[in-house]
Amino acid sequence: MKRRNFLMNITAAIGGLVATKAIAKIDHNNMHNMVCDINSDECQKGDGTHQHMNMNNNQMPQKLLPTSALPQGMDLPTLTNLKNDSNQKGFFEATLYLKPTKIALTPNLITEFWTYNGMTPGPKIEVFEEDHVKITVKNELTQPTTVHWHGLLIPSDQDGNPQNEIPAGGSRTYEFTIPKGSAGTYWYHPHGHNTVAEQVYRGLAGTFIVRSKHDPLTPIPEQNWFFSDLKLTDKGQIADNSMVDWMNGREGQFVLINGSYRPKIKIGSATRIRVWNACSGRYLNLSIPNCDVYLVGTDGGLLAKPYLLTKPLLLTPAERAELVIMPKQTGTVYLQSIGYDRNKMGNVPPEQDIILGELVLTKSDPITLPNTLNQLPNMGPAVAHKLLEYTEVMDMKQPHGGMLFLINGKRHDMSRIDLKSKIHDIEEWTIFNNSHMDHNFHIHGAQFIVQTHELNGKKTQPDYIALKDTINLRPHEKLTIKIQQNLPGLRMYHCHIIEHETLGMMGQLMVE
Ligand code: C2O
Ligand code: CU
Ligand code: CU
Repeated sequence: MKRRNFLMNITAAIGGLVATKAIAKIDHNNMHNMVCDINSDECQKGDGTHQHMNMNNNQMPQKLLPTSALPQGMDLPTLTNLKNDSNQKGFFEATLYLKPTKIALTPNLITEFWTYNGMTPGPKIEVFEEDHVKITVKNELTQPTTVHWHGLLIPSDQDGNPQNEIPAGGSRTYEFTIPKGSAGTYWYHPHGHNTVAEQVYRGLAGTFIVRSKHDPLTPIPEQNWFFSDLKLTDKGQIADNSMVDWMNGREGQFVLINGSYRPKIKIGSATRIRVWNACSGRYLNLSIPNCDVYLVGTDGGLLAKPYLLTKPLLLTPAERAELVIMPKQTGTVYLQSIGYDRNKMGNVPPEQDIILGELVLTKSDPITLPNTLNQLPNMGPAVAHKLLEYTEVMDMKQPHGGMLFLINGKRHDMSRIDLKSKIHDIEEWTIFNNSHMDHNFHIHGAQFIVQTHELNGKKTQPDYIALKDTINLRPHEKLTIKIQQNLPGLRMYHCHIIEHETLGMMGQLMVE
């Protein structure tokens, strides 16, 4: 299908859905019923896939709070640490409470978030390699949840799979040991069935840092930049997802760093920055002017050697990076995300450059980074191959814009094993984005190494070798990765545009 027709069909679908909705409203109050009314197979199967999703029943555009309503230019907040309740060496023990929390964004703007321990982002968990971690989670929400430890190499039954939900009002303890050699920049967020998008946009996500006792960058001062996205109604409450959010991934009017809107960030000397893109759907294309910016680490830890960035750093939802930035001039510049066209659907305005914050730079003597940062696993030849194909299918019977986002023609089914891997096998996976928009790929339980990108018949190698658990794919891009799963059990893989994941762009791998 040509792009133009495709767009027209989408627009027609939205129009059609709104019209049907208006009629259906006479009898029903929710879209689930409406979908059944028009003979959805899904409904007839009775799998109830959409039942729990919180939808914007009124599909008219919501009125949003003007961006001038939030203060900007405050000093970048530091992330609060989750207190370790254990004084035993090598042991980290704590409790996370999930609950609705009213937070005053300004003295007269009180917003209800869902939080871990009353704060968003959730408290920062900081441990060392080989530490034993025991975290009790108390779910004081009115819906089930799990905590997924994104990127960590831990047993599958401790990794917050949707099969292992903590019921509303319930609790459970997660327990795992952090493997040696896995120092890196991770995070945690919910991973229940059908509820992830809402729980994340209401504020549930936090950072998880694993440190090495032999960190080659240790003397360099550190900052954390945790990017999240906030969409507030004109009443200052968290807006529901619109149909466009469901299709393209949610983007709010505010991008926050450590929970603060357009903060002021002081860089007085060479600084190591850990960056998280914890936005639901927003792609960040980071530009840090007037500095030398070295990429030193990615999702799963340090690179083999520092890599001087010569263009903005694209971080798609869930990706992380470690940077060392060295100011070359004194002065104030904007930290920006440069417009990146990810080919969104529907009638959405073209991508703009956006201001994320203000960098207050002090020129300082550049430091020399070590030549070698890390010893990356030398993955040998692959003994097994797998192929994933992402597709988008129009289906007027579907809610949320009538789109189905599929992997190998299927949507997520908790009771279906899509793929099997032999434990410790080195595998090559080919992932083909056979669709019109960018999607990314994330897998649990392992860090992979990208081998090749292929786009428009041109094959390229990545600019640097890196440990990744999330990687972007352009429309029609094909990429190959090498991956090794070293623990048995069930693992998810999915697009981390979290609306797509929640709509079922996810599969299940069994490692045996
Ligand atoms: Cu960050 Cu399956 O998730
Ligand atoms: Cu994950
Ligand atoms: Cu996607």
